[in-house]
Amino acid sequence: MNFQNNSVGILGIGSALPEKVLTNFDLEKMVDTSDEWITKRTGISERRILDENTPGSHLGTKAAKRALEDAGIAAEEIDLIIVATETPDYLTPSMSCIIQSNLGASKAAAFDLNSACTGFVYGLTVANQFIKTGFYKYILVIGCEALSKVTDWKDRNTCVLFADGAGAAVVGPVEEGYGILNTYIGADGNLGKNITAPCCFITDEDKAKRESENKRVLWMDGGEVFKFAVRIMEHATVKVLEDTKITLDDLKIIFPHQANIRIIDGAAKRLGVSQEKVFTNVHKYGNISSASIPVGLDEADKAGSLKKGDNIVLVGFGGGLTWGAAVIKWSK
Ligand code: UT7
Repeated sequence: MNFQNNSVGILGIGSALPEKVLTNFDLEKMVDTSDEWITKRTGISERRILDENTPGSHLGTKAAKRALEDAGIAAEEIDLIIVATETPDYLTPSMSCIIQSNLGASKAAAFDLNSACTGFVYGLTVANQFIKTGFYKYILVIGCEALSKVTDWKDRNTCVLFADGAGAAVVGPVEEGYGILNTYIGADGNLGKNITAPCCFITDEDKAKRESENKRVLWMDGGEVFKFAVRIMEHATVKVLEDTKITLDDLKIIFPHQANIRIIDGAAKRLGVSQEKVFTNVHKYGNISSASIPVGLDEADKAGSLKKGDNIVLVGFGGGLTWGAAVIKWSK
């Protein structure tokens, strides 16, 4: 195949969230917490949670269908499906293969990518390379998470934060000069111990950290991740802008990973950007990991907040620990 094109961007975007809303007041009945503490310390008021019997891939499929419709592209035209997820339904088949089947995207290759909350930026980076080289033309990048399924609902340190959701983008050739201008991704595995969710292997130390019977729930040292997050969001934003030779003043809006309003505000302060320039929806959805950035993008796009030619930055951080940022000149 050869569709070589220098400009690659987002042709269509979609998202899907569970209907079930879990409020801070609901959580007050489950653990020793309060609406006041959660709102003040995280900015979260409510989040969306899947029913026990519904798989995460259900959301990813819905988001992908909406993105395809938005792009005006048929599932059969998709060359590759990349699902960024840290909560796949199965280790095998991958979430991407499940979604490929649900969509009937019979031509598409499919693989999952796990860089936790940074997954969508990693996925965009991979898609950009495949399309720029001419190897593929249309790629679905989906951030799809069912964190409720690895949450310890008795651990107030984590259960007030994480939730479920999916966001998807159809990535493909766009008008010259528009689309993904640059991406930057990084990782520091030495810091990985700060957020863990064991799978096929588990240490005694991992077991000791978890009070629940299920020793494979997510555990986090919130304070350590908090400090890392504020620092790395500033670093990744500055680095990707410098590499692209554009400035913060040239940006319409920044889409940060939505983990905690205090992290977002802290990073914005370090960057010296006003809050109006920073997209937030953490109050409604909590932390939905790799889905957080595409869900935000979809909301902003559908609300008409993005105009063709706007420069935007996507910036994420998360488990691994990982980080990444992308500069996009909006092409829709
Ligand atoms: O997506 C990437 C992964 N995650 C993140 O980015 C999250 C990063 N971290 C955070 O957002 C914050 O560190 C948290 C929200 C997790 C915690 O906020 P904090 O302001 O750093 O609180 P803390 O951990 O310093 O805890 C302060 C107090 C503690 O009580 P003591 O020891 O001072 O008596 C906690 O036990 O708040 C207590 N606490 C709670 N109290 C009521 C912790 N969680 C809760 C809770 N409700 N849900």
